[in-house]
Amino acid sequence: MKRSDFGDDFTWGVASAAFQIEGAPSADGKAPSIWDELTRTGKIAGEGGDQGIDFYNRYPEDIEMIKDLGFGANRISLSWPRLMGTGRERLNPKGADFYDRVIDATLEAGMEPWVTVHHWDIPLALWQEGGWTRRGIVEDFARFAEVCAERFGDRVKKWMVFNEPASVAGHLVLGLYGRKGLHPNTTLRSVHHINLACAEAGRRMRAALPEDAEIGTTNVMSVAYPYEPTDERTARRKRAIEALAIDMHLDPAGGLGYPFGANRLLNLMKRHIEDGDLESARFEYDFMGVQCYGPLVALRKLPVVGAVPTMTVPGAEARVSSAIGIPQDADALLWTFRKYANHPVAKRMVVTEGGFGGQDRLEPDGRVRDDIRIWVYRRNLEAVLAAKAEGINVDGYFAWSYADNVEWVLGRSPRFGIVYTDYDNDYRRIPKDSAKWFQRLLTTDAGVD
Ligand code: BGC
Repeated sequence: MKRSDFGDDFTWGVASAAFQIEGAPSADGKAPSIWDELTRTGKIAGEGGDQGIDFYNRYPEDIEMIKDLGFGANRISLSWPRLMGTGRERLNPKGADFYDRVIDATLEAGMEPWVTVHHWDIPLALWQEGGWTRRGIVEDFARFAEVCAERFGDRVKKWMVFNEPASVAGHLVLGLYGRKGLHPNTTLRSVHHINLACAEAGRRMRAALPEDAEIGTTNVMSVAYPYEPTDERTARRKRAIEALAIDMHLDPAGGLGYPFGANRLLNLMKRHIEDGDLESARFEYDFMGVQCYGPLVALRKLPVVGAVPTMTVPGAEARVSSAIGIPQDADALLWTFRKYANHPVAKRMVVTEGGFGGQDRLEPDGRVRDDIRIWVYRRNLEAVLAAKAEGINVDGYFAWSYADNVEWVLGRSPRFGIVYTDYDNDYRRIPKDSAKWFQRLLTTDAGVD
């Protein structure tokens, strides 16, 4: 496999998110986010919620390494409470300075900053007002997005509005943010508000950004196994699962409304839809960020809304489960490309995240042998090539993640990085075998086997 197989215009990047890497939870005027509160109340396994991987201080070294590995793009996210305190405050100049420095260093390294406006770290104060269940959040979020576009739009040309609404829905269902989330009705109400918020944010950003800026967003995107059902019952179940886990987050922006016919549970959504909402929820993105960590499964009953099933898909290549319990099967990615290739929400797709969470070990010889991760990336990239050969427009791949970081409630384990974070030794960064694999792929003519 060679870099040239993907074409000159293909974007190669690494991805991360503010809470997972930055640390510095109260530095320079930052207010707490819901994730700082989960850290404070002991909901994050082990330690680390407060420190992240100290990107707040070590970003120059990290950006240098990302460049050395051969990547051309660095995806980060902006912390709402770092930039706007409790959520509706004026821009915090020190918070904005931090992102200025990161963006400038990325550009100076010859890479392109790709910026996610929101990757789950909603200000705690807004959460306490009702979070995504409160309709007023639509305006709050749109204003935040607009402020970001105004401040960084002179240098950032690639934007993603919201990372994975489906995961936020999943967190709500699991009651992660408190009991308020446990009812499907609350979750669906939040999902509707997130859809409205993203579309309104997209419009405000488009008005604020220069013409050459591109506005995308990212979603959990996958298909349910079996990919080609042979009986009607399984086909119906497959549609029902995909509607609830994926399509309700994509269809409204594409002007398709909600897939009510596919899943009866979605009827609960109807009571939250006001006149004109389906029109307001439309927004044509320039690209859709695909984040497929494995297939959904249509073979048995599943938990509601956004929950990821843990069953392993049969088949020789599907035996490896990541440490977060997701079966690995790159065919899911290829079938996802096929399903969404002509979806009206966006004309092209970019894999804005892909990767593998494992229990990596730093060995005495200083190496981290993460063969499984290399296998996962190779299979993912083969799926990209197969889609391109079918004429499907996929033009970028971002590895999740650059370095091991805080995997939300799971804390420091599993590790998702291609670079090992040595938490015991001053957070040293040590490229794993997979980082060297990417480096060979991206910087040598011979590529990788
Ligand atoms: C999220 C990341 C997360 C990764 C691995 C994605 O759902 O966007 O923040 O770390 O999956 O679980």
